Amino acid sequence: MASIVVLDYGSQYTRLIARRLRELGVFSTILQADASLPDILAHDPAGVVLSGGPKSVYDPDTPGLPDGLLDTGLPLFGICYGMQLLAKELGGEVVRSPVREYGKALLTGYRGELFGGVEGDFVAWMSHGDAVMSLPEGFGVVASTQDTEIAAMESSGRGIYCMQFHPEVQHTPKGRTLIENFVRRTGMVRDWTPEHILEVMTREVKERVGDERVMLAISGGVDSSTLGLLLNRALGDNLQAVFVDHGLLRAGEAEEVEKALTGVGMNLTVVDASEQFLGALVGVSDPEDKRRAIGREFIEVFNAQVKAKQAELGAIRFLAQGTLYPDVIESAGGHGAANIKSHHNVGGLPEDLQFELLEPFRTLFKDEVRELATLLGLPSYLAGRHPFPGPGLAIRCLGEVTQGRLEVLRRVDDIFISALREFGLYDETWQALAVLTPLRSVGVMGDQRTYESTVALRAVSSVDGMTADWTRLPHDFLATVSNRIVNSVPEVNRVVFDITSKPPGTIEWE
Ligand code: XMP
Repeated sequence: MASIVVLDYGSQYTRLIARRLRELGVFSTILQADASLPDILAHDPAGVVLSGGPKSVYDPDTPGLPDGLLDTGLPLFGICYGMQLLAKELGGEVVRSPVREYGKALLTGYRGELFGGVEGDFVAWMSHGDAVMSLPEGFGVVASTQDTEIAAMESSGRGIYCMQFHPEVQHTPKGRTLIENFVRRTGMVRDWTPEHILEVMTREVKERVGDERVMLAISGGVDSSTLGLLLNRALGDNLQAVFVDHGLLRAGEAEEVEKALTGVGMNLTVVDASEQFLGALVGVSDPEDKRRAIGREFIEVFNAQVKAKQAELGAIRFLAQGTLYPDVIESAGGHGAANIKSHHNVGGLPEDLQFELLEPFRTLFKDEVRELATLLGLPSYLAGRHPFPGPGLAIRCLGEVTQGRLEVLRRVDDIFISALREFGLYDETWQALAVLTPLRSVGVMGDQRTYESTVALRAVSSVDGMTADWTRLPHDFLATVSNRIVNSVPEVNRVVFDITSKPPGTIEWE
Protein backbone atom coordinates (compact mmCIF):
# COMPACT_ATOMS: atom_id res chain seq x y z
CA MET A 1 0.00 0.00 0.00
CA ALA A 2 1.37 3.40 -0.96
CA SER A 3 2.43 5.57 1.95
CA ILE A 4 4.31 8.64 3.03
CA VAL A 5 7.32 7.48 5.02
CA VAL A 6 8.31 9.51 8.09
CA LEU A 7 11.94 9.06 9.07
CA ASP A 8 12.35 9.42 12.83
CA TYR A 9 15.41 11.42 13.86
CA GLY A 10 14.32 11.36 17.49
CA SER A 11 11.84 14.23 17.71
CA GLN A 12 9.15 14.07 20.36
CA TYR A 13 6.77 15.09 17.55
CA THR A 14 7.48 12.30 15.06
CA ARG A 15 4.26 10.45 15.79
CA LEU A 16 2.36 13.66 15.48
CA ILE A 17 3.64 14.06 11.91
CA ALA A 18 2.37 10.59 11.06
CA ARG A 19 -0.95 11.31 12.71
CA ARG A 20 -1.37 14.60 10.87
CA LEU A 21 -0.81 12.77 7.59
CA ARG A 22 -3.36 10.14 8.53
CA GLU A 23 -5.84 12.87 9.47
CA LEU A 24 -5.42 14.19 5.96
CA GLY A 25 -6.39 10.75 4.66
CA VAL A 26 -3.01 9.36 3.65
CA PHE A 27 -1.36 6.29 5.06
CA SER A 28 1.95 7.02 6.77
CA THR A 29 4.63 4.79 8.23
CA ILE A 30 7.34 5.76 10.71
CA LEU A 31 10.79 4.26 10.12
CA GLN A 32 13.96 4.73 12.13
CA ALA A 33 16.37 7.27 10.70
CA ASP A 34 18.91 4.55 9.98
CA ALA A 35 16.50 2.69 7.67
CA SER A 36 18.14 1.66 4.41
CA LEU A 37 16.80 2.76 1.04
CA PRO A 38 15.41 -0.75 0.30
CA ASP A 39 13.59 -0.62 3.69
CA ILE A 40 12.06 2.69 2.70
CA LEU A 41 11.15 1.59 -0.81
CA ALA A 42 9.48 -1.53 0.61
CA HIS A 43 6.79 0.81 1.94
CA ASP A 44 5.96 2.08 -1.54
CA PRO A 45 6.59 5.71 -0.60
CA ALA A 46 5.14 8.63 -2.53
CA GLY A 47 7.18 11.04 -0.40
CA VAL A 48 9.44 11.10 2.65
CA VAL A 49 9.31 13.38 5.69
CA LEU A 50 12.48 13.84 7.74
CA SER A 51 11.53 14.60 11.32
CA GLY A 52 13.17 16.91 13.82
CA GLY A 53 15.59 15.58 16.38
CA PRO A 54 17.54 16.54 19.48
CA LYS A 55 21.01 16.42 17.91
CA SER A 56 23.09 18.84 15.90
CA VAL A 57 24.15 17.79 12.42
CA TYR A 58 27.71 18.39 13.64
CA ASP A 59 27.55 16.03 16.64
CA PRO A 60 29.52 12.83 16.24
CA ASP A 61 27.39 9.77 15.39
CA THR A 62 24.42 11.81 14.23
CA PRO A 63 21.98 10.01 11.97
CA GLY A 64 22.44 11.02 8.33
CA LEU A 65 20.38 10.67 5.18
CA PRO A 66 19.74 7.13 3.95
CA ASP A 67 22.19 6.39 1.11
CA GLY A 68 20.62 7.00 -2.26
CA LEU A 69 17.51 8.77 -0.94
CA LEU A 70 18.30 11.99 -2.80
CA ASP A 71 18.69 10.06 -6.08
CA THR A 72 15.18 8.63 -5.92
CA GLY A 73 13.62 11.97 -6.86
CA LEU A 74 10.92 11.41 -4.21
CA PRO A 75 9.41 14.60 -2.78
CA LEU A 76 11.11 15.32 0.57
CA PHE A 77 9.93 17.37 3.52
CA GLY A 78 12.59 18.25 6.11
CA ILE A 79 11.45 19.55 9.48
CA CYS A 80 13.93 21.21 11.87
CA TYR A 81 16.79 18.68 12.13
CA GLY A 82 15.50 17.22 8.85
CA MET A 83 15.94 20.63 7.22
CA GLN A 84 19.45 21.08 8.58
CA LEU A 85 20.45 17.62 7.42
CA LEU A 86 19.14 18.23 3.90
CA ALA A 87 20.82 21.66 3.81
CA LYS A 88 24.16 20.19 4.84
CA GLU A 89 23.97 17.20 2.47
CA LEU A 90 22.99 19.41 -0.45
CA GLY A 91 25.89 21.85 0.05
CA GLY A 92 24.33 24.56 2.23
CA GLU A 93 25.84 25.80 5.46
CA VAL A 94 24.46 25.01 8.92
CA VAL A 95 25.79 26.84 11.98
CA ARG A 96 25.28 26.63 15.70
CA SER A 97 23.28 29.67 16.70
CA PRO A 98 24.47 31.58 19.74
CA VAL A 99 20.89 31.61 21.06
CA ARG A 100 18.44 28.78 20.96
CA GLU A 101 15.18 29.91 19.38
CA TYR A 102 12.34 28.39 21.34
CA GLY A 103 8.65 29.17 21.29
CA LYS A 104 6.31 31.00 18.97
CA ALA A 105 7.64 33.15 16.14
CA LEU A 106 5.93 35.17 13.46
CA LEU A 107 6.90 34.31 9.90
CA THR A 108 7.56 37.21 7.59
CA GLY A 109 7.26 37.26 3.83
CA TYR A 110 6.17 33.68 3.48
CA ARG A 111 5.67 32.42 -0.07
CA GLY A 112 6.38 29.34 -2.14
CA GLU A 113 4.62 26.12 -2.99
CA LEU A 114 3.90 24.74 0.49
CA PHE A 115 2.53 28.08 1.71
CA GLY A 116 -0.03 28.10 -1.13
CA GLY A 117 -3.48 29.00 0.22
CA VAL A 118 -2.19 30.37 3.55
CA GLU A 119 -3.46 33.84 4.43
CA GLY A 120 -2.81 36.32 7.23
CA ASP A 121 -0.29 36.04 10.05
CA PHE A 122 1.58 32.78 10.29
CA VAL A 123 2.63 31.82 13.80
CA ALA A 124 5.20 29.02 13.87
CA TRP A 125 6.53 26.88 16.72
CA MET A 126 10.31 26.98 16.89
CA SER A 127 12.64 24.78 18.86
CA HIS A 128 16.16 24.74 17.50
CA GLY A 129 19.78 25.52 18.27
CA ASP A 130 21.36 25.21 14.82
CA ALA A 131 20.27 27.22 11.81
CA VAL A 132 20.82 27.14 8.05
CA MET A 133 23.04 30.11 7.12
CA SER A 134 23.44 29.63 3.40
CA LEU A 135 21.21 27.89 0.93
CA PRO A 136 22.07 24.83 -1.11
CA GLU A 137 22.12 25.46 -4.84
CA GLY A 138 18.70 25.64 -6.46
CA PHE A 139 16.91 26.56 -3.21
CA GLY A 140 15.10 29.78 -2.33
CA VAL A 141 14.13 31.22 1.05
CA VAL A 142 10.36 31.00 1.46
CA ALA A 143 9.95 32.34 5.00
CA SER A 144 11.95 34.20 7.66
CA THR A 145 11.49 35.20 11.28
CA GLN A 146 13.01 38.02 13.25
CA ASP A 147 15.81 35.73 14.46
CA THR A 148 16.13 33.32 11.56
CA GLU A 149 16.65 34.46 8.00
CA ILE A 150 16.14 31.02 6.49
CA ALA A 151 13.11 29.77 8.43
CA ALA A 152 11.88 27.82 5.41
CA MET A 153 13.47 26.98 2.07
CA GLU A 154 12.41 24.99 -0.93
CA SER A 155 13.44 23.75 -4.29
CA SER A 156 10.13 23.33 -5.96
CA GLY A 157 11.73 21.84 -9.07
CA ARG A 158 13.37 19.03 -7.10
CA GLY A 159 10.39 18.69 -4.79
CA ILE A 160 12.38 19.35 -1.59
CA TYR A 161 10.73 21.46 1.12
CA CYS A 162 12.30 22.41 4.43
CA MET A 163 11.11 24.21 7.55
CA GLN A 164 12.97 25.21 10.63
CA PHE A 165 9.71 25.22 12.61
CA HIS A 166 7.24 22.46 13.39
CA PRO A 167 4.15 22.53 11.14
CA GLU A 168 2.78 19.41 12.87
CA VAL A 169 2.18 20.91 16.34
CA GLN A 170 -0.89 22.77 17.53
CA HIS A 171 1.22 25.84 18.27
CA THR A 172 1.59 26.24 14.50
CA PRO A 173 -2.13 26.73 13.82
CA LYS A 174 -1.82 26.95 10.02
CA GLY A 175 0.71 24.14 9.76
CA ARG A 176 -1.88 21.72 8.45
CA THR A 177 -2.08 23.57 5.13
CA LEU A 178 1.66 23.08 4.62
CA ILE A 179 1.40 19.36 5.25
CA GLU A 180 -1.64 19.22 2.99
CA ASN A 181 0.28 20.95 0.20
CA PHE A 182 3.11 18.46 0.59
CA VAL A 183 0.62 15.59 0.35
CA ARG A 184 -0.71 17.14 -2.86
CA ARG A 185 2.83 17.33 -4.21
CA THR A 186 3.36 13.61 -3.56
CA GLY A 187 0.26 12.80 -5.60
CA MET A 188 -1.07 10.50 -2.86
CA VAL A 189 -4.77 9.72 -3.10
CA ARG A 190 -6.41 10.78 0.15
CA ASP A 191 -8.46 7.66 0.74
CA TRP A 192 -7.27 6.57 4.20
CA THR A 193 -10.73 6.97 5.71
CA PRO A 194 -12.40 4.87 8.43
CA GLU A 195 -14.54 3.17 5.76
CA HIS A 196 -11.46 2.31 3.73
CA ILE A 197 -9.56 1.11 6.81
CA LEU A 198 -12.49 -1.14 7.69
CA GLU A 199 -12.59 -2.56 4.20
CA VAL A 200 -8.82 -3.21 4.10
CA MET A 201 -8.73 -4.79 7.58
CA THR A 202 -11.77 -6.98 6.94
CA ARG A 203 -10.30 -8.24 3.69
CA GLU A 204 -6.91 -8.92 5.24
CA VAL A 205 -8.39 -10.75 8.22
CA LYS A 206 -10.57 -12.92 5.97
CA GLU A 207 -7.65 -13.78 3.72
CA ARG A 208 -5.33 -14.66 6.58
CA VAL A 209 -7.80 -16.61 8.73
CA GLY A 210 -9.85 -18.42 6.09
CA ASP A 211 -12.06 -20.98 7.84
CA GLU A 212 -9.90 -21.26 10.95
CA ARG A 213 -10.94 -20.18 14.45
CA VAL A 214 -9.73 -17.11 16.34
CA MET A 215 -9.60 -16.59 20.08
CA LEU A 216 -9.81 -13.06 21.47
CA ALA A 217 -9.57 -11.78 25.04
CA ILE A 218 -11.74 -8.73 25.62
CA SER A 219 -10.61 -6.48 28.44
CA GLY A 220 -13.50 -4.03 28.34
CA GLY A 221 -11.33 -1.31 26.75
CA VAL A 222 -11.86 0.32 23.37
CA ASP A 223 -9.14 -1.57 21.46
CA SER A 224 -10.14 -5.14 22.23
CA SER A 225 -13.87 -4.34 21.99
CA THR A 226 -13.40 -2.78 18.56
CA LEU A 227 -11.27 -5.68 17.45
CA GLY A 228 -14.04 -7.99 18.59
CA LEU A 229 -16.55 -6.08 16.46
CA LEU A 230 -14.26 -6.19 13.43
CA LEU A 231 -13.56 -9.92 13.79
CA ASN A 232 -17.21 -10.63 14.41
CA ARG A 233 -18.08 -8.90 11.17
CA ALA A 234 -15.29 -10.61 9.21
CA LEU A 235 -15.48 -14.10 10.71
CA GLY A 236 -18.85 -14.53 12.39
CA ASP A 237 -18.94 -17.65 14.56
CA ASN A 238 -15.32 -18.50 13.92
CA LEU A 239 -14.55 -15.83 16.48
CA GLN A 240 -14.41 -17.05 20.08
CA ALA A 241 -14.33 -13.97 22.27
CA VAL A 242 -13.84 -14.16 26.03
CA PHE A 243 -14.50 -11.19 28.28
CA VAL A 244 -12.68 -11.71 31.56
CA ASP A 245 -14.35 -9.41 34.05
CA HIS A 246 -11.72 -8.99 36.74
CA GLY A 247 -14.00 -6.87 38.87
CA LEU A 248 -11.62 -3.91 38.61
CA LEU A 249 -13.49 -1.89 35.99
CA ARG A 250 -15.35 1.37 36.50
CA ALA A 251 -18.94 1.54 37.70
CA GLY A 252 -21.29 -0.10 35.19
CA GLU A 253 -18.60 -0.58 32.58
CA ALA A 254 -18.56 -4.38 32.34
CA GLU A 255 -22.33 -4.43 31.79
CA GLU A 256 -22.21 -1.71 29.13
CA VAL A 257 -19.47 -3.43 27.18
CA GLU A 258 -21.20 -6.79 27.37
CA LYS A 259 -24.46 -5.28 26.17
CA ALA A 260 -22.79 -3.55 23.23
CA LEU A 261 -20.96 -6.69 22.12
CA THR A 262 -23.70 -9.24 22.52
CA GLY A 263 -26.01 -6.71 20.86
CA VAL A 264 -24.26 -7.28 17.53
CA GLY A 265 -24.52 -11.05 17.91
CA MET A 266 -20.92 -11.66 18.93
CA ASN A 267 -19.93 -15.10 20.09
CA LEU A 268 -18.94 -13.87 23.54
CA THR A 269 -18.30 -15.76 26.75
CA VAL A 270 -18.34 -13.54 29.82
CA VAL A 271 -16.41 -14.87 32.79
CA ASP A 272 -17.08 -13.14 36.08
CA ALA A 273 -13.75 -13.75 37.76
CA SER A 274 -13.91 -10.86 40.21
CA GLU A 275 -13.75 -13.07 43.29
CA GLN A 276 -10.73 -14.92 41.98
CA PHE A 277 -8.90 -11.65 41.26
CA LEU A 278 -9.83 -10.11 44.60
CA GLY A 279 -8.67 -13.30 46.29
CA ALA A 280 -5.31 -13.02 44.58
CA LEU A 281 -4.98 -9.42 45.77
CA VAL A 282 -5.55 -10.10 49.47
CA GLY A 283 -2.64 -8.67 51.45
CA VAL A 284 -0.94 -7.27 48.32
CA SER A 285 0.01 -3.59 48.56
CA ASP A 286 3.06 -3.22 46.34
CA PRO A 287 2.01 -1.92 42.89
CA GLU A 288 4.24 -4.24 40.90
CA ASP A 289 3.08 -7.22 42.97
CA LYS A 290 -0.49 -6.20 42.18
CA ARG A 291 0.28 -6.10 38.46
CA ARG A 292 1.95 -9.49 38.62
CA ALA A 293 -0.91 -11.06 40.59
CA ILE A 294 -3.48 -9.69 38.14
CA GLY A 295 -1.43 -10.83 35.14
CA ARG A 296 -1.13 -14.34 36.58
CA GLU A 297 -4.84 -14.65 37.29
CA PHE A 298 -5.71 -13.32 33.90
CA ILE A 299 -3.61 -15.91 32.15
CA GLU A 300 -5.04 -18.66 34.30
CA VAL A 301 -8.64 -17.70 33.58
CA PHE A 302 -8.00 -17.20 29.91
CA ASN A 303 -6.09 -20.48 29.55
CA ALA A 304 -8.92 -22.38 31.14
CA GLN A 305 -11.27 -20.83 28.60
CA VAL A 306 -8.97 -21.68 25.71
CA LYS A 307 -8.68 -25.29 26.83
CA ALA A 308 -12.44 -25.59 27.25
CA LYS A 309 -13.04 -24.17 23.78
CA GLN A 310 -10.44 -26.41 22.23
CA ALA A 311 -11.96 -29.46 23.89
CA GLU A 312 -15.33 -28.43 22.48
CA LEU A 313 -14.37 -27.18 19.02
CA GLY A 314 -10.98 -28.66 18.17
CA ALA A 315 -7.88 -26.65 17.39
CA ILE A 316 -7.98 -22.86 17.47
CA ARG A 317 -5.28 -21.47 15.28
CA PHE A 318 -5.16 -17.74 15.97
CA LEU A 319 -4.96 -15.50 18.98
CA ALA A 320 -6.08 -11.95 18.21
CA GLN A 321 -4.66 -8.96 20.07
CA GLY A 322 -5.51 -5.29 19.90
CA THR A 323 -1.89 -4.16 19.60
CA LEU A 324 -1.72 -0.60 18.27
CA TYR A 325 0.86 1.21 16.18
CA PRO A 326 2.42 3.11 19.11
CA ASP A 327 3.07 -0.26 20.85
CA VAL A 328 4.79 -1.47 17.69
CA ILE A 329 6.97 1.64 17.42
CA GLU A 330 7.64 1.38 21.15
CA SER A 331 8.88 -2.17 21.07
CA ALA A 332 10.97 -1.42 17.99
CA GLY A 333 12.78 1.08 20.23
CA GLY A 334 11.81 4.47 18.81
CA HIS A 335 14.52 7.06 19.51
CA GLY A 336 12.66 9.57 21.59
CA ALA A 337 10.31 7.17 23.28
CA ALA A 338 10.52 6.80 27.03
CA ASN A 339 9.80 3.42 28.50
CA ILE A 340 6.29 2.86 29.80
CA LYS A 341 5.02 0.14 32.06
CA SER A 342 4.67 -3.32 30.64
CA HIS A 343 1.08 -3.74 29.58
CA HIS A 344 -0.52 -6.90 30.71
CA ASN A 345 -1.29 -8.34 27.32
CA VAL A 346 -1.75 -12.05 26.94
CA GLY A 347 2.02 -12.41 27.13
CA GLY A 348 2.39 -15.51 29.25
CA LEU A 349 0.45 -18.15 27.38
CA PRO A 350 2.03 -21.58 27.56
CA GLU A 351 3.82 -22.65 24.42
CA ASP A 352 1.76 -25.79 23.90
CA LEU A 353 -1.17 -23.60 22.87
CA GLN A 354 0.84 -22.57 19.83
CA PHE A 355 -1.26 -19.76 18.52
CA GLU A 356 -0.45 -17.63 15.57
CA LEU A 357 -0.85 -13.98 16.50
CA LEU A 358 -3.39 -11.90 14.64
CA GLU A 359 -2.95 -8.15 15.20
CA PRO A 360 -5.00 -6.25 12.63
CA PHE A 361 -4.56 -2.90 14.42
CA ARG A 362 -0.75 -2.97 14.33
CA THR A 363 -0.75 -0.08 11.88
CA LEU A 364 -3.39 2.06 13.59
CA PHE A 365 -3.31 4.96 16.02
CA LYS A 366 -5.80 5.11 18.85
CA ASP A 367 -7.90 7.79 17.16
CA GLU A 368 -8.28 5.60 14.11
CA VAL A 369 -9.45 2.71 16.30
CA ARG A 370 -12.01 5.03 17.89
CA GLU A 371 -13.33 5.99 14.46
CA LEU A 372 -13.53 2.35 13.48
CA ALA A 373 -15.34 1.62 16.74
CA THR A 374 -18.03 4.15 15.93
CA LEU A 375 -18.32 2.85 12.39
CA LEU A 376 -18.72 -0.69 13.73
CA GLY A 377 -21.52 0.40 16.03
CA LEU A 378 -19.85 0.75 19.43
CA PRO A 379 -21.87 3.47 21.22
CA SER A 380 -19.95 6.74 21.09
CA TYR A 381 -19.65 7.05 24.88
CA LEU A 382 -17.81 3.71 24.85
CA ALA A 383 -15.77 4.46 21.72
CA GLY A 384 -14.61 7.83 23.04
CA ARG A 385 -13.60 6.66 26.51
CA HIS A 386 -10.37 7.77 28.12
CA PRO A 387 -7.51 5.24 28.26
CA PHE A 388 -7.81 2.84 31.17
CA PRO A 389 -5.04 0.61 32.52
CA GLY A 390 -5.32 -3.16 32.13
CA PRO A 391 -5.00 -3.84 35.89
CA GLY A 392 -7.85 -1.38 36.36
CA LEU A 393 -8.83 0.22 39.63
CA ALA A 394 -6.47 -2.08 41.57
CA ILE A 395 -3.54 0.19 40.86
CA ARG A 396 -5.56 3.32 41.72
CA CYS A 397 -6.47 1.85 45.08
CA LEU A 398 -3.21 2.60 46.86
CA GLY A 399 -2.44 0.04 49.52
CA GLU A 400 -4.52 -3.07 49.87
CA VAL A 401 -7.35 -3.72 47.43
CA THR A 402 -10.52 -4.81 49.17
CA GLN A 403 -14.09 -4.98 47.94
CA GLY A 404 -14.98 -2.11 50.28
CA ARG A 405 -12.13 0.18 49.20
CA LEU A 406 -12.82 -0.59 45.54
CA GLU A 407 -16.44 0.38 46.05
CA VAL A 408 -15.43 3.74 47.58
CA LEU A 409 -13.07 4.43 44.69
CA ARG A 410 -15.71 3.42 42.15
CA ARG A 411 -18.22 5.88 43.59
CA VAL A 412 -15.70 8.73 43.70
CA ASP A 413 -14.52 7.98 40.18
CA ASP A 414 -18.09 7.84 38.92
CA ILE A 415 -18.90 11.25 40.43
CA PHE A 416 -15.79 12.80 38.86
CA ILE A 417 -16.21 11.24 35.41
CA SER A 418 -19.96 11.89 35.26
CA ALA A 419 -19.37 15.53 36.20
CA LEU A 420 -16.75 15.89 33.47
CA ARG A 421 -19.36 14.69 30.97
CA GLU A 422 -22.07 16.88 32.49
CA PHE A 423 -19.87 20.02 32.25
CA GLY A 424 -18.72 19.19 28.70
CA LEU A 425 -15.13 18.71 29.84
CA TYR A 426 -14.74 14.99 29.21
CA ASP A 427 -13.67 15.14 25.57
CA GLU A 428 -11.31 18.03 26.27
CA THR A 429 -9.47 15.91 28.80
CA TRP A 430 -7.16 13.19 27.56
CA GLN A 431 -7.48 11.09 30.69
CA ALA A 432 -9.07 11.61 34.08
CA LEU A 433 -9.03 9.41 37.12
CA ALA A 434 -9.56 9.20 40.85
CA VAL A 435 -7.16 7.66 43.33
CA LEU A 436 -7.98 6.30 46.77
CA THR A 437 -4.99 7.05 48.98
CA PRO A 438 -4.16 5.19 52.20
CA LEU A 439 -4.12 8.55 53.96
CA ARG A 440 -6.74 9.37 56.60
CA SER A 441 -7.11 12.74 58.21
CA VAL A 442 -9.34 14.68 60.53
CA GLY A 443 -12.28 16.65 59.20
CA VAL A 444 -15.49 18.14 60.48
CA MET A 445 -18.96 17.48 59.11
CA GLY A 446 -22.01 18.98 60.72
CA ASP A 447 -20.88 19.05 64.32
CA GLN A 448 -19.12 15.75 63.96
CA ARG A 449 -15.41 15.14 63.89
CA THR A 450 -14.52 12.76 61.07
CA TYR A 451 -11.43 10.69 60.46
CA GLU A 452 -11.69 9.46 56.88
CA SER A 453 -9.84 8.91 53.61
CA THR A 454 -8.26 11.33 51.17
CA VAL A 455 -8.93 10.91 47.46
CA ALA A 456 -6.94 12.50 44.68
CA LEU A 457 -8.34 13.57 41.33
CA ARG A 458 -6.12 13.71 38.28
CA ALA A 459 -6.84 15.04 34.79
CA VAL A 460 -4.23 15.33 32.07
CA SER A 461 -3.77 16.67 28.57
CA SER A 462 -1.56 14.53 26.40
CA VAL A 463 -1.01 13.21 22.89
CA ASP A 464 -0.11 9.62 23.65
CA GLY A 465 0.45 9.37 27.39
CA MET A 466 4.22 9.54 27.02
CA THR A 467 4.29 13.09 28.31
CA ALA A 468 1.37 14.94 29.86
CA ASP A 469 0.39 18.18 31.46
CA TRP A 470 -2.21 18.50 34.20
CA THR A 471 -5.45 19.88 32.84
CA ARG A 472 -6.48 23.31 34.10
CA LEU A 473 -10.00 22.29 35.09
CA PRO A 474 -12.11 25.29 36.13
CA HIS A 475 -12.10 25.95 39.88
CA ASP A 476 -15.90 26.04 40.03
CA PHE A 477 -16.03 22.63 38.46
CA LEU A 478 -13.52 21.25 40.96
CA ALA A 479 -15.48 22.80 43.81
CA THR A 480 -18.68 21.12 42.63
CA VAL A 481 -17.01 17.73 42.29
CA SER A 482 -15.33 18.01 45.68
CA ASN A 483 -18.65 18.88 47.34
CA ARG A 484 -20.45 16.05 45.65
CA ILE A 485 -17.81 13.53 46.68
CA VAL A 486 -17.61 14.52 50.32
CA ASN A 487 -21.38 14.82 50.62
CA SER A 488 -22.20 11.48 49.10
CA VAL A 489 -19.27 9.23 49.97
CA PRO A 490 -19.04 9.13 53.77
CA GLU A 491 -15.72 7.26 53.71
CA VAL A 492 -14.06 10.33 52.16
CA ASN A 493 -13.53 13.68 53.89
CA ARG A 494 -10.81 15.29 51.78
CA VAL A 495 -10.33 15.77 48.02
CA VAL A 496 -7.06 16.91 46.44
CA PHE A 497 -6.25 17.69 42.81
CA ASP A 498 -2.93 16.59 41.33
CA ILE A 499 -0.98 19.44 39.65
CA THR A 500 2.06 17.43 38.56
CA SER A 501 2.94 17.04 34.91
CA LYS A 502 4.61 13.97 33.36
CA PRO A 503 7.56 13.97 33.69
CA PRO A 504 8.35 14.15 36.55
CA GLY A 505 5.12 12.45 37.67
CA THR A 506 3.47 9.51 35.94
CA ILE A 507 -0.19 9.65 34.98
CA GLU A 508 -1.25 6.83 37.27
CA TRP A 509 -0.36 7.09 40.94
CA GLU A 510 -0.01 3.40 41.80
P1 XMP B 1 1.83 6.26 33.37
O1 XMP B 1 1.20 6.04 34.72
O2 XMP B 1 2.98 5.31 33.13
O3 XMP B 1 0.71 5.84 32.32
O4 XMP B 1 2.19 7.67 33.10
C1 XMP B 1 0.76 6.14 30.95
C2 XMP B 1 -0.52 5.66 30.31
O5 XMP B 1 -0.55 4.22 30.28
C3 XMP B 1 -1.71 3.76 30.95
N1 XMP B 1 -1.35 2.52 31.63
C4 XMP B 1 -1.68 1.30 31.20
N2 XMP B 1 -2.38 0.91 30.12
N3 XMP B 1 -2.11 -1.35 30.79
C5 XMP B 1 -2.61 -0.43 29.94
O6 XMP B 1 -3.27 -0.81 28.98
C6 XMP B 1 -1.39 -1.02 31.89
O7 XMP B 1 -0.95 -1.88 32.65
C7 XMP B 1 -1.16 0.38 32.10
N4 XMP B 1 -0.50 1.07 33.05
C8 XMP B 1 -0.62 2.41 32.74
C9 XMP B 1 -2.11 4.87 31.89
O8 XMP B 1 -3.48 4.78 32.25
C10 XMP B 1 -1.78 6.08 31.06
O9 XMP B 1 -2.78 6.33 30.10
